Amino acid sequence: MYKVGDIFEVTIDKMANRGKGLGRINEQVVFVPYSAPQDVLKVQATKISKNFIDAEIIEILRPSSMRTQAPCPYFTDCGGCHFQHIHYPQQVQLKDQLVKETLLRALGNPENVNLLDPIASPSEWHYRNRIQVHVQNDQIGFHKRNSHSIIPIKQCLIAEPALNSALPSLKITAGIEKIELLLDKNMQFHTRDLNSKGQPTLFSQVNRFANDVLVKLVVDKAVSYTSYSKLFDLYSGDGNFLIALTKALPNIDCRGVELNPGLVKLGREEIRKSKLNARYTISSVENYLETVSIDSHDMIVLDPPRTGCDAKAMMILGSSPRNNVIYVSCEPTTLARDLRLLKETAQKWGLVFRLRSVQTLDMFPQTEHIETVVEFSIDKIDSSSTTH
Ligand SMILES: C[S@@+](CC[C@H](N)C(=O)[O-])C[C@H]1O[C@@H](n2cnc3c(N)ncnc32)[C@H](O)[C@@H]1O
Repeated sequence: MYKVGDIFEVTIDKMANRGKGLGRINEQVVFVPYSAPQDVLKVQATKISKNFIDAEIIEILRPSSMRTQAPCPYFTDCGGCHFQHIHYPQQVQLKDQLVKETLLRALGNPENVNLLDPIASPSEWHYRNRIQVHVQNDQIGFHKRNSHSIIPIKQCLIAEPALNSALPSLKITAGIEKIELLLDKNMQFHTRDLNSKGQPTLFSQVNRFANDVLVKLVVDKAVSYTSYSKLFDLYSGDGNFLIALTKALPNIDCRGVELNPGLVKLGREEIRKSKLNARYTISSVENYLETVSIDSHDMIVLDPPRTGCDAKAMMILGSSPRNNVIYVSCEPTTLARDLRLLKETAQKWGLVFRLRSVQTLDMFPQTEHIETVVEFSIDKIDSSSTTH
């Protein structure tokens, strides 16, 4: 039995969730942050749980060939980045392996899935168009890892240059503890006091370079399917996909569903300005799906928050045939949970869940976060592929 404080040697086998490397000591799983597969490490146990040990690196005995020098002086003190010590192309490969392993395991190793190559972010540094800084004792910084105290920062290597330039001149007003710095779609700079009431949280994709690739990917997939007349963009935010889809598919009736009225307002303004035909409904997706009937041929795009989709939404979608569904996810564990529920629901209704393709796209270089796009269908049992 191990206890907190014990020091031992471990070899990292692979990457696990939350940006941690996974190794084993006497059959016990050990999670080590800031490690890389093939590292041989001297580590110290920081937490003992029933099925695993958390440990921190004390010494790198034999470094993995994936390692590189992390360029940021705050790396490992600041909790924001997890992978700066790994060469960028390998970060992308590791994230991709993790996603594919997680999904295929959750679905019982389905056959005939098109496992597409991962797509790297066009820029691996200076991509974030939104950062949140904390203010303590007149100093501005990020939260220290696992703590509420702050590390004062001069610049953040994953933030857009315009945000870094604004940091030194940021006005600190008494009582403000958390400020968001952001560049909007027109590259206009804004700050928002995140403590004051009445500040709606408005979602926008954080990496405009990778977002352009993502939008094109979703549009290309949607265009590649034929014989549908309606498209439902569920969790549509301010219309990031909806607007591009409506432009690319002028003869399709495109509908967005979004819970946040502030985002719907932005989306509707853009639709009006661009003279598009898309329509929005302000609703939760789960309630919306109870009220509309979606034809099996209709195209569905899902892009839920990190928490994934509501179980009710999955049970409604899984209970009827669906030809074309694209699910965009920023959290592989909730994606795997949702697809599993879809599969189980489909089975209950005598249908077959068929995962068609999986593709990761790195929206969040240097961090643990992963964006994935999957395509699936819910088929009648006697249709083409019924092997799983
Ligand atoms: C990951 S964002 C995607 C937004 C958009 N597709 C984009 O690319 O910018 C998820 C969106 O889902 C919305 N949302 C969260 N829970 C929801 C729910 N239950 N029903 C509908 N929308 C929801 C959030 O407000 C957010 O705009």
